[in-house]
Amino acid sequence: MLLSTIDGLVNFIFKFAALICLAPLWVLGLVTFKQILLSQVIFTLICKFIKTGNTFLNKKVYKWYNIHTPNCEDDLTSILSKKQVFCLVTGGSGGLGEALSLELLLKYGKSKNFNLIIVDKVNLKNELIENHDNVKFIHFDLKEDVLGLIEQLPIAMKDENSAYKILINNCGIRHKFAEFTEIWSEKELQSILKVNVIAGANLIEHLNPDYLVTVSSILSLVTPKNASLYSASKAAASAIHNAFVQIGSKKGLLILPGQLKDTSMFANIVNHRQFLAPLVDIQKLSKKIVLSIENLECSTIIDPFYGHFIALIDKLPYWLNAILRDYSEIDKASD
Ligand SMILES: *[C@@H]1O[C@H](CO)[C@@H](O)[C@H](O)[C@H]1NC(C)=O
Repeated sequence: MLLSTIDGLVNFIFKFAALICLAPLWVLGLVTFKQILLSQVIFTLICKFIKTGNTFLNKKVYKWYNIHTPNCEDDLTSILSKKQVFCLVTGGSGGLGEALSLELLLKYGKSKNFNLIIVDKVNLKNELIENHDNVKFIHFDLKEDVLGLIEQLPIAMKDENSAYKILINNCGIRHKFAEFTEIWSEKELQSILKVNVIAGANLIEHLNPDYLVTVSSILSLVTPKNASLYSASKAAASAIHNAFVQIGSKKGLLILPGQLKDTSMFANIVNHRQFLAPLVDIQKLSKKIVLSIENLECSTIIDPFYGHFIALIDKLPYWLNAILRDYSEIDKASD
C-alpha cells in the first residue's frame, strides 16, 4: 500500500495542499507548472511560519500570564548553563521511558549540570544509559510507598532554589483487556490506579517539579469496550496533569500516544486497523518530546494524528458514534 496510514495520508495532503488545489487549474491551463511549484514552496514556508509563530505566541502569552514568576526561562539549555537540572523518569528501563532517557542523554548528556534519575523495578539493560556519568538508577517498584523512593534521591534535588526539576511520569501498567463485568474488582482498579495515577501524583507532591511530563494515552480520550480500568486510570492521570500545570510558574507536556511499537506493554495487543491507528514509533516520539522539553513548551502531544479527532467520538450522535466505532474497530483491540 502506497500510504499505509491515515497519518501518512493527512501529512501528504498537508504537504501537497497547494499542488492538489491548483492541479485542476493547471489541467485547464490557467496556471503553469512553475507557478504551482512556487505556490508549493510558499505554502511550506507558511506552515513553518505558523509553527514558529505558535511557539513564539505560546512563550509571550505564558509570560503575560506569569508576569510575577521569577526567571521563567525560555529553554532548557539556558537553564543548564546556570543551574543543576534534575530529570526523573519513571519506568525508564524499557519502552518509551528508555528511548526517552537515551534521547535526553544524547542532547544534554555532555552538560555537567544535567542529572538523569531513572526509576524502574526492572534493571537497566542499555549500556549507554547504564554507564553514563550523569545517570543515577534507582531500583524501585512504584507499587510501594513512594517515600521509599524520595529518600534515595540526591539531596541537591530537594533544594527549591538551586535546582530545576523535571518529572517524567511515564511508568504505567495495564490489565488484561476484557469486558468490564469480567475484570471488575476494587482491588484490580486500585492496583492499576496505584501505579498509573497515585505514584505519579505522590511524586508531583513531594518533588514539586518545575516542569511535568505525563505519559498518558489516547485511551484517556476514548474508552474501548475491554479497556475500562486502564482508560479510567489514564483519564485520571491526564486530569491531574492538566490541573497541576495551571499553577503559576508550572509548565508541562501531556503525551497522548496510541499503541506504541516494540514495547512490552502492548506486545500482545492485536491491532486490526493499522491504516487508521498506526503503531507509534518510540524513537520518533522521544525526539518530539525532547524538542518540546528543550523549549519548555506547555502543550499536548497527540500521536498518531488521528488522535486529534478521537476525543470527538463520544460527543457525536449515537448513529455516527456507532458507525465510527465499528469502522475503526476501536472495540476490537484484543490481547
Ligand atoms: C473482550 O473481552 C471479552 C471477555 O470479557 C472477550 O470475549 C472478547 O473477545 C474481548 N474482545 C476483544 C475484541 O478482544
